[in-house]
Amino acid sequence: MSALLRSALLAAARSAQLERAVTRLPVSRDVVSRFVAGTTTDQVVSTAETLLRSGRFISIDYLGEDTTDLTQAQATVEQYRVLIAALGRLPQAETTSGAVRPLEVSVKLSALGQALPRDGHAVAREHAHQICAAAEAAGLWVTVDAEDHTTTDSTLAIVRELRADFPWLGTVLQAYLRRTEEDCRALAGPQSRIRLCKGAYDEPESVAFRDRAEVDASYLRCLGVLAAGQGYPMIASHDPAIIAAAGAAVAAARRKCEEYEYQMLYGIRDDEQQRLAAEGNHVRVYIPYGDQWYGYFMRRLAERPANLAFFLRALAGG
Ligand code: FDA
Repeated sequence: MSALLRSALLAAARSAQLERAVTRLPVSRDVVSRFVAGTTTDQVVSTAETLLRSGRFISIDYLGEDTTDLTQAQATVEQYRVLIAALGRLPQAETTSGAVRPLEVSVKLSALGQALPRDGHAVAREHAHQICAAAEAAGLWVTVDAEDHTTTDSTLAIVRELRADFPWLGTVLQAYLRRTEEDCRALAGPQSRIRLCKGAYDEPESVAFRDRAEVDASYLRCLGVLAAGQGYPMIASHDPAIIAAAGAAVAAARRKCEEYEYQMLYGIRDDEQQRLAAEGNHVRVYIPYGDQWYGYFMRRLAERPANLAFFLRALAGG
């Protein structure tokens, strides 16, 4: 996909006007269901159970981001409590300290109030603390998603603080950011869980690599740091070249298969997820659900021309 089209789609992902238009299109729901596992807790838990039966782990994201409304941020925390309680009733909920937990939720701090004008950082930290406490009691993990680069310092500071109470709290790092190799070195200590992805936002050249080859090279350097580190690397990519290189990196670091995991998004490369799991690897599927699918969906369109073509064909009725 041309860099221009990708930038345009990522700009569209942040337009409230386009969101209103696209979410009203009658075909949107059908196309979106390829990437989003429904709108209700029951629907996403049912999808999670299917994936767990196939030998994969799961991480569930209640969709929403960039809220500037405290009530909405509180409602998101409540939604996570309901979700965590439902997941905690599954037999895979794991309360053994130190064990790899098959069940996880992923959270975006901007959905928890991080963008509130005065005290966003503190509000998001308190809300994330509440979610972590509920997850701990239910035998689940939490990982904090990475959003655009203006939030990275605040997000990593919150994760550092919360890890005092919840040492298993995971965080996402984006290989396209120039700072990330250094962040990997700083964060790959004992018990850390780092989900390494390429990065999905439209970032300026000043802070991010924009050339695909440079992003891939950065990913491999970061992966090398994480594999050699003392934590639990989570290799979040669908890219065959990255997955092959990751296998070599963890082998070189003499990691056993329970000392790292592969992660992919729901609806993308399902057969590859199953192949990796059948080989004995830990594979976790990131499953988004909820009504606020627009931003997530537009980022998936921006990643791959075939997804955009599929959406446009559905719009044209063919
Ligand atoms: P790349 O984009 O190079 O794709 C390689 C191949 O994978 C493609 O050729 C295609 O076969 C397949 N593929 C990739 N994307 C596809 C798509 N949308 N539809 C169909 N096929 C596709 N980003 C972020 O900024 N913050 C975050 O918190 C997260 N969290 C996260 C969690 C997990 C578990 C994953 C897997 C990814 C994220 N991401 C993310 C998204 C990530 O940054 C990146 O945008 C996508 O994973 C696409 O990059 P790939 O590494 O898959 O490679």
